[in-house]
Amino acid sequence: MGLSQDLYKKAKKLIPGGTQLLSKRPEIFLPDLWPAYYEKAKGCRVWDLDGNKYTDMSYMGIGASILGYADKDVDSAVKTAVDKGSMCTLNCPEEVELAELLCKLHPWAEMVRYARTGGEAMAIAVRIARAKTGKDLVLFCGYHGWHDWYLSANLADDKALDGHLLPGLKPKGVPRVLKNSAIPFSYNNIKGFLSLVDKYKNKIGTVVMEPVRNYYPEKGFLETIREMTEKLKIVLIFDEITSGWRLNLGGAHLKLGVNPDIAVFGKGISNGYPMAAIIGKSEVMEVAQETFISSTYWTERIGPVAALATIRKLKERDVPSHLINIGKKIQNGWRESAEKNRLKISVSGIYPLGHFSFNYEDPLILKTLFTQLMLERGFLATDSFYASYAHREKNVEKYLEVVDEVFEFIARAIKENKVKKYLKGPICHSGFRRLV
Ligand SMILES: Cc1ncc(COP(=O)(O)O)c(C=O)c1O
Repeated sequence: MGLSQDLYKKAKKLIPGGTQLLSKRPEIFLPDLWPAYYEKAKGCRVWDLDGNKYTDMSYMGIGASILGYADKDVDSAVKTAVDKGSMCTLNCPEEVELAELLCKLHPWAEMVRYARTGGEAMAIAVRIARAKTGKDLVLFCGYHGWHDWYLSANLADDKALDGHLLPGLKPKGVPRVLKNSAIPFSYNNIKGFLSLVDKYKNKIGTVVMEPVRNYYPEKGFLETIREMTEKLKIVLIFDEITSGWRLNLGGAHLKLGVNPDIAVFGKGISNGYPMAAIIGKSEVMEVAQETFISSTYWTERIGPVAALATIRKLKERDVPSHLINIGKKIQNGWRESAEKNRLKISVSGIYPLGHFSFNYEDPLILKTLFTQLMLERGFLATDSFYASYAHREKNVEKYLEVVDEVFEFIARAIKENKVKKYLKGPICHSGFRRLV
């Protein structure tokens, strides 16, 4: 089936796992049929290698393209930086300008370090926190990347049980000595958090979590965590790699009214160009000088320039309000169409990062059929929608019209017990599930 699939077959022989990111594996969407590769992407439009054009109503660069693909303002700033030299023996001044801006937007923070990807930025934050407290134990909630500190949570006493805490993430190759150095807790489960604090009290040096993601924090959840971490001199890290810049300008924690000791940004901060920032209180961040955290490409110019241009545009156009508005329309649209067609679904997520799931015995089959039918109608679509500034009302209207048609089709197929019959390829993989 087409150049894309042929290339993906070749890739799987040359690149272990086929892609560099689990969330970009075609099998997660639609095995054998997902377009897999793009020739061109602009706004929310994507062209595949076979000349097909789609509207992306799925993950928009897996959360990176908050303004849309190939945004002209960010790209023009980047092109200027390229022409002026994106690498040099000297440092680029833009990293100081960006540090100043990030601290101004987050008045509790005084210092900033940079990386280029989310996972490595989280590893830096955890290193700084451990260096500050001298304690190894990390309590965490949610997904924070691929590094050893995080994946070690999936090492069990019995090797056969490895992987049971974070389903789908295999910790093979992570030193077993790291077992019990990172322990997960569930979002909005304050009792669970407090009982871990009670159990490990003096051993905990770091708490890592997203301030918000699939659900809003229940009253007192973030406040209790802040109170306990302050009391026990634990460094609280908010991972804002995906939650940041979508509900407001800066970290979502600003809107939620709870400040961490360190916050980490990535993805959306630079609209598709590699960039990540670790911001924090100076008493914590200063410790970065007492450990070794250093890398050549953390000094290049494109990342900070892209971040400055992205933040400028997010502010000028009040992009977060747009994302909330568009995301709300999509979530309401899913609900209304499901109700109308008597399809049982659950909708979750903050408005800019919406998600739905089919409440049936075998939801993956239905998810696969949904993606297949949407693709046939010109949409890259799955059970999530990440809003971007490039999504306009007309995209939403057209998408919801097609969703309604597809939901009706699926509801009929369920009734007639014909869902499997309509599938043109294998069922999608479930992939990694976040611990929530
Ligand atoms: C909350 C959160 N933390 C960390 C990461 C890892 O970032 P990256 O894929 O850039 O390494 C992600 C990516 O999905 C994320 O959503």
